[in-house]
Amino acid sequence: MASKLKAFPLLFLLLLLLLLLLLLLLLPVHTSNAQSWIKSGYWRPGILLPARDVNSALFTHLICGFADVHNSTYRLSIPSSVVQNFSTFTGTVKRKNPSIVTLLSVWAGEAQTYQSVYAQIPNSTVLSSMVSKASHRKSFIQSSIKTARRYGFDGLDLYWVWPSTGSDLINLGSLLDEWRAAINSESRNSNQSRLILTMALHYVPVLHLVSYPVDSIRWNLDWAHLIAYHYCVPTQVNFTCPNAALYDPWSNVSANFGIREWTRRGLPVSKLVLGLPYFGYAWTLVNPSDNGLGAPALGLGVTWNGAMGYKMIRSFIQDYDNAVAPTYNATYVVNYRTIGNSWIGYDDVEAIRAKVSYAKEKKLLGYYVLYVSEDHNWELSRAAGM
Ligand SMILES: *[C@@H]1O[C@H](CO)[C@@H](O)[C@H](O)[C@H]1NC(C)=O
Ligand SMILES: *[C@@H]1O[C@H](CO)[C@@H](O)[C@H](O)[C@H]1NC(C)=O
Ligand SMILES: *[C@@H]1O[C@H](CO)[C@@H](O)[C@H](O)[C@H]1NC(C)=O
Ligand SMILES: *[C@@H]1O[C@H](CO)[C@@H](O)[C@H](O)[C@H]1NC(C)=O
Ligand SMILES: *[C@@H]1O[C@H](CO)[C@@H](O)[C@H](O)[C@H]1NC(C)=O
Ligand SMILES: *[C@@H]1O[C@H](CO)[C@@H](O)[C@H](O)[C@H]1NC(C)=O
Ligand SMILES: *[C@@H]1O[C@H](CO)[C@@H](O)[C@H](O)[C@H]1NC(C)=O
Repeated sequence: MASKLKAFPLLFLLLLLLLLLLLLLLLPVHTSNAQSWIKSGYWRPGILLPARDVNSALFTHLICGFADVHNSTYRLSIPSSVVQNFSTFTGTVKRKNPSIVTLLSVWAGEAQTYQSVYAQIPNSTVLSSMVSKASHRKSFIQSSIKTARRYGFDGLDLYWVWPSTGSDLINLGSLLDEWRAAINSESRNSNQSRLILTMALHYVPVLHLVSYPVDSIRWNLDWAHLIAYHYCVPTQVNFTCPNAALYDPWSNVSANFGIREWTRRGLPVSKLVLGLPYFGYAWTLVNPSDNGLGAPALGLGVTWNGAMGYKMIRSFIQDYDNAVAPTYNATYVVNYRTIGNSWIGYDDVEAIRAKVSYAKEKKLLGYYVLYVSEDHNWELSRAAGM
């Protein structure tokens, strides 16, 4: 009898201890919002690869692009020609990877043709005017959340390259504050988990002599996509150069320099996801035997703007001379090949591997690729995922 009476509080204490342990185990997950290593990639319809053929097992996140912003209502809209593809995207990519997380991305809302995929993107007057007024922002934000939910996306992404004035950058801070508040409140009201919010950033935090709203970015975004390509293109310079240098000992145009600047201004590396280009650029050489980095060129080569997807580069190489391996330059972290009088600089397996190692070493949050559809037999994505 006496032992039974003693056992009761003991049992109670044990239970309490167990509960405490459970709480301790669960707590870090809830409070730190820890996100594990991100392996992400942009996909868009109309280029090369239907969603059902995406090897989503190689990714943790896939970003479906691009939604538009209407030029007078400022509502987010999906072009009617691709509504079907967008609405089935999440369900389709979950078949090969049920835990994949999908985001819907918003671009400049202009010139969304295949030709413009890697071209310089025109100034977005629509985005500038959307962010400039509270009522415009509200219309955009509410419709973006509705659209993401309607089509089963887990988050929203803004691919604004580039805000074109200083006031765009200031207004961007207001957009992000309001977008985050709306996302949080929608989650509370709908009883669904919060939508993820991300955006693409210029490689350095200052544009048009004005800083990005770093505090707002840090507080409101789940993470940011660092654009680490388009650094040097054949429509702008007449010598061969790396389009996506990780390092550059002779200039400040490199991802490594940009990451240092962003962290110096207060954005932690744990908020940065590094961009990996699945494309490169071709130049026409002045003299095919002078074909290193910095060799004189007559201008662009091969395509109308010199841009070539990795898949296209591989088939171009195959058509000519498949035997010679591309050169790898570890100073910049770039691969290149000369074929006839064309010189192509791009990221092959070596450059991709080195960049992913770098991202891990610097404790970035992960990487994203542009675009998953440009891979050749998933060789780059497998190299990146190692
Ligand atoms: C988009 O959807 C259409 C019709 O549903 C389909 O025929 C097409 O293959 C899809 N395109 C891509 C790139 O997924
Ligand atoms: C808005 O878009 C419509 C249809 O795309 C176009 O006809 C019109 O010219 C645009 N208006 C402005 C002010 O850009
Ligand atoms: C974009 O706008 C800025 C400022 O208005 C201007 O300096 C720049 O030349 C424009 N760029 C393009 C590609 O139109
Ligand atoms: C929200 O979810 C919780 C747990 O899943 C449930 O108990 C609650 O009733 C839900 N509230 C609403 C408003 O749906
Ligand atoms: C490159 O050189 C060609 C031929 O001399 C010239 O036509 C072109 O304008 C130059 N391009 C640039 C960006 O300097
Ligand atoms: C690179 O940036 C550093 C620090 O901002 C500056 O001191 C240096 O002059 C810059 N170098 C070049 C080549 O622009
Ligand atoms: C990369 O190319 C630059 C420019 O030609 C050269 O100075 C450097 O030595 C090269 N680095 C390697 C590792 O080959």
